Amino acid sequence: MYRSHTCGELNESHIETKVTLSGWVHKTRDKGFVVWVDLRDRYGITQLVFDEDRSSSKLLEQARNLGREFVVQIEGEVIERTSKNPNIPTGDIEVLVESLKVLNTSKTPPFTIENETDGGIDLRMKYRYLDIRRNPIKNNLIFRSKVTMEVRKYLAENGFIEVETPYLIKSTPEGARDFVVPSRMNEGQFYALPQSPQTFKQLLMVGGLDKYFQIVKCFRDEDLRADRQPEFTQIDCEMAFVEQEDILKVFEGLTKHLLKAIKGVEISSFPRITFDDAMRIYGNDKPDIRFGMEFGELNAVAQHKDFNVFNSSELVVGIAVPGAASYSRKEIDALVDWVKRPQIGAKGMVYVKCNEDGSFKSSVDKFYDQEDFQKWAEITGASSGDLIFVLSGEVTKTRTQLSALRMEMAERLGLRNPKEFAPLWVVDFPLLELDEETGNYHAMHHPFTSPKPGQLELLESDPGEVRANAYDLVLNGNEIGGGSIRIHDTEMQSTMFKHLGFTEEEAQAQFGFLMDAFQYGAPPHGGIAFGLDRLVAILGGQETIRDFIAFPKNNSGRDVMIDAPSPIDQNQLDELGLKLTV
Ligand code: AMO
Repeated sequence: MYRSHTCGELNESHIETKVTLSGWVHKTRDKGFVVWVDLRDRYGITQLVFDEDRSSSKLLEQARNLGREFVVQIEGEVIERTSKNPNIPTGDIEVLVESLKVLNTSKTPPFTIENETDGGIDLRMKYRYLDIRRNPIKNNLIFRSKVTMEVRKYLAENGFIEVETPYLIKSTPEGARDFVVPSRMNEGQFYALPQSPQTFKQLLMVGGLDKYFQIVKCFRDEDLRADRQPEFTQIDCEMAFVEQEDILKVFEGLTKHLLKAIKGVEISSFPRITFDDAMRIYGNDKPDIRFGMEFGELNAVAQHKDFNVFNSSELVVGIAVPGAASYSRKEIDALVDWVKRPQIGAKGMVYVKCNEDGSFKSSVDKFYDQEDFQKWAEITGASSGDLIFVLSGEVTKTRTQLSALRMEMAERLGLRNPKEFAPLWVVDFPLLELDEETGNYHAMHHPFTSPKPGQLELLESDPGEVRANAYDLVLNGNEIGGGSIRIHDTEMQSTMFKHLGFTEEEAQAQFGFLMDAFQYGAPPHGGIAFGLDRLVAILGGQETIRDFIAFPKNNSGRDVMIDAPSPIDQNQLDELGLKLTV
């Protein structure tokens, strides 16, 4: 028996008990006449003690020779500590060691196995198995497991069936590039790894399974960001005989269940906002609604004066930053420079200070009077003590810029409280999105999304205006899920492909299997997929998903621990019939 107890469970009630523990040597402190060793495992740390009075000199010597991260097994007796540590559950006791066995030695780890480590990110990734020994990463993985278990519990209780779908498939149109896998048995041909199980889950509905879910890896070859990995996990779901309202109800239920079970937070019902309103009020289709700073459109009150910058702009829009009227000229100039950085791209920014005495002071005092500013304050919801920032220009760009400023100000003012949870449904997304480069429309969600009833006619006349039965679930300014009611009719699906620029042959070659299936009684259906990594990170109070994934990729899509991707042997290339030109 390697252990009778874990390193996290012994306390005063175990005093005088003989125990066997196994774990890693976290730290050794040698005071000459006494040696303390902190023994660590997944469950915690227990202090071991060896001393000249009570331990043999051989045992004391053995303890002195232990290196960091050695794996050891000890037997001993639980005793009361003289100086207690109230910060850890085992802090009242220590184990007086009677025998010690080294199960394995260890090289000195390249960074400290502490909550705050001295290891940089590259080193931590290369030795991720050591990184996982640290509490922050270990706890994130345990947390992830807990969330996953609760997801399964809720969905199983609601009649969902977990079904696995294949990974070696052909391209699925989720809008990113595919990772492809060459086929040895079919030389010159390739599988694609799924960007999502979208088409398969629809086929499961045709198969009559009615309520499906899968916690599934998805693969997308796209540029990485803090909330994106090339392989990530979805909680993928689909239901038959449902309308949008049914889906929102079930998955609002799932989210509420998770918030309650994991965070103890109860939220009665989730607000909903249309895509158009989200863009107008927050300049963003995934607004963080934990704080206000809603946009106020100022065209009517700021144009037709002598300020030509505003007169020639499509949109003049501002936000009121709470309590920021006290900002110095230098601080404001720094923010003006911040919005002018190429990443944001504003040409300039106007400000209005709402002074405590009710007067206004602005960078455009020359063109506007106090009454004008009073109107600006009303529209942006500014009170005295606030600072109004105003941007202007082309509608979409200006909204995006002001949205970035809104988030930055919220961050700086500490308004993005990670312990507060503000979910929101964004509904009525456009069906199609114009690709500025090619001038073609492509599906904003994916080509299987159905337009809202009665909107099909608009497809010809004004494709950008067609609204879809598509919805996203946003949590604290992050898109954690998205889905839609699908097209379940062959004819409408081929019309859709046509509008997306597929010829009949192309549509047949890529999605013939789905259109064939639709001819055999496809039920009305719809679904949603949550990004599990994102959901877990946000519930855990963070926005970066990397440390909630056991073995993530770095920003260049590499696994630096196993060194992948890497070249393959000429033999393997020959077998696959592949010739490299680089
Ligand atoms: P969508 O493409 O919106 O929908 O993806 C669903 C959710 O997956 C998460 N996500 C990601 N997480 C981490 N890294 C990535 N690279 C990444 N890409 C997406 C997001 C997103 O909301 N088949 C549809 C779902 C459906 O219609 O039912 C789909 O995949 O949280």
